Amino acid sequence: SKNTSFSERVLTWFDQNGRKDLPWQHPITPYRVWISEIMLQQTQVATVIPYYEKFMESFPDLYSLANAPTDEVLKHWSGLGYYARARNLHKAAQQIRDDFYGEFPSTLDEVVSLSGIGRSTAGAILSIAFQQRQAILDGNVKRVLARHNTIEGWYGKTSVQKELWEIAEELLPTNVPASRNADYTQAMMDLGATLCTRSKPNCSACPLQDDCQAFLTGTVTKYPTPKPK
Ligand code: ADE
Ligand code: SF4
Repeated sequence: SKNTSFSERVLTWFDQNGRKDLPWQHPITPYRVWISEIMLQQTQVATVIPYYEKFMESFPDLYSLANAPTDEVLKHWSGLGYYARARNLHKAAQQIRDDFYGEFPSTLDEVVSLSGIGRSTAGAILSIAFQQRQAILDGNVKRVLARHNTIEGWYGKTSVQKELWEIAEELLPTNVPASRNADYTQAMMDLGATLCTRSKPNCSACPLQDDCQAFLTGTVTKYPTPKPK
């Protein structure tokens, strides 16, 4: 509704519907959140869970991963696909060991300097694990924001990316307890994954319906705008 901000509605929805028992949420540490975010980049939550649990048994901390032979790390990745992710993960663990005294870094510039971590993944780690006020913009969140604000144009375009990042940052919660920065990131991911899906979004259950420009104009299926041929 008009009196309740975007982030307040998202957070209330999260309290009632968000996922709070995923394995990487108990306990939350930068290392554990990082591994989960890399696994979740191109793989569904349900598929990731058993791999994540086995990975954590074999590599419970940064040093066990950094010091492991690359083959051992790749072995744990078989079945997840996109092996470049595992190679980058291993390389980043060695960067953290060698350049950050084995402590996961806590600034955006440092985190994006790590192998395999882009701005959105960095935002996810910093908000979820460090409770910082940082935006994310993964595929799910891009779709939510493009629909909510009827952003035309292909996501791959620099101008569209820039516009979506600006919106993502403007919509972040303000004056909230730090833990709500973490909840908000998880909420946006969950909302995109469970309600604002690519096909047949569940707008009737969505906390953003009242001011979602795509919903209000009956143009939800127009977004995201496909890549021009
Ligand atoms: N996809 C990427 N990150 C995720 C997370 N933290 N929870 C659920 N799905 C995700
Ligand atoms: Fe997505 Fe529908 Fe919610 Fe708009 S109202 S954000 S299209 S689920």
